[in-house]
Amino acid sequence: RDGLAEHARRSGRHFGLAVKSRLLREDRSYRTTAARECSILVQEYELKRGTTEPKPGKYDFSGADQIIDFAQAHDMHARGHTLVWYAANPKWLEPAVKQAGKTEQRRLMTSYIDVAMRRYAGRIAEWDVVNETLEPNQGRADGMRAENLWMQAMGEHYIDLAFHRARATDPAAALYLGDYGLEHDSPRCERRRTAMLKLLDRLLGRGVPIDAIGIQGHLKPYKEPFNQRQFADFLQKLSGYGLKIAVTEFDIADRGGPPNPEKRDREVASIAKAFLDVALDNPATQSLLCWGVSDRDSWLSRYPDYKWPDGQLSRGLPFDGDMARKPFWDAIAAAF
Ligand code: XIL
Repeated sequence: RDGLAEHARRSGRHFGLAVKSRLLREDRSYRTTAARECSILVQEYELKRGTTEPKPGKYDFSGADQIIDFAQAHDMHARGHTLVWYAANPKWLEPAVKQAGKTEQRRLMTSYIDVAMRRYAGRIAEWDVVNETLEPNQGRADGMRAENLWMQAMGEHYIDLAFHRARATDPAAALYLGDYGLEHDSPRCERRRTAMLKLLDRLLGRGVPIDAIGIQGHLKPYKEPFNQRQFADFLQKLSGYGLKIAVTEFDIADRGGPPNPEKRDREVASIAKAFLDVALDNPATQSLLCWGVSDRDSWLSRYPDYKWPDGQLSRGLPFDGDMARKPFWDAIAAAF
């Protein structure tokens, strides 16, 4: 293998990509790229509950199975994304939680932890147990996301319950709490970092079994600046708690960058390098995963907040629309 995983391995780390089962099935160059570059894989949507549990208790793990089988066939680790989240849930779930009594509310959350973790025990090494708990702009002094069905049902103890349940269900799995908006030098990210550290004080103080923090790493450097020292300090605080770290959804929204694609590629690569130099300087950092394989399949090329108005592809991943390596790839290799 001559891919980024090989570079990552030299410092005892993993490199991986978020993949889509359909493209693994249908696109040969996508498949060979994933096989060559990765030592860990994650699903872009196939383990979100809106995909796996379209009707209460009726599961469809076919997409996730394909990805996990592919990872196993290529001797890769897999991570599971994600067990408890306010978003990407099936339509039936929120009304069901709202109508339920306390015991049933807990069951509606933990049932998915039980089913998904048992199914993949021994095959998924690490799980995003709880995703995106913070949103300081929604009026709560503690910075917790108010518009969150689990928060509304149980308060923040939903996080305690989820992690205890996950630990009991698959004691061998590493348990992650993941969030975004922790990376930039901006008032928004500063509020989010503070909220995260205070939340960890409370959770770890109560003995909640969290192993690691997932830093999503969706950078938008043309909207918010990045400061190496500030980010390094934050990671040091996380590792100071004894937590492991992973960058779980790395990509760079390039809208607003130089119009010339070559120039933009160079600039985006140097921003990636500045970020990764910090992330990989901390010995607690276990792995780096990019959120997508190529610019053609990237959510950045579609998502309203990030896509270019003229329809050109975003260039925020290591491979371009033809699966060729870009300066972004070199920046990752150099950072490992
Ligand atoms: C995104 C997917 O990439 C999109 O295809 C989907 O439409 C929305 O979700 N944070 C997360 C990921 O934790 O699950 C999100 O994935 C991107 C932001």
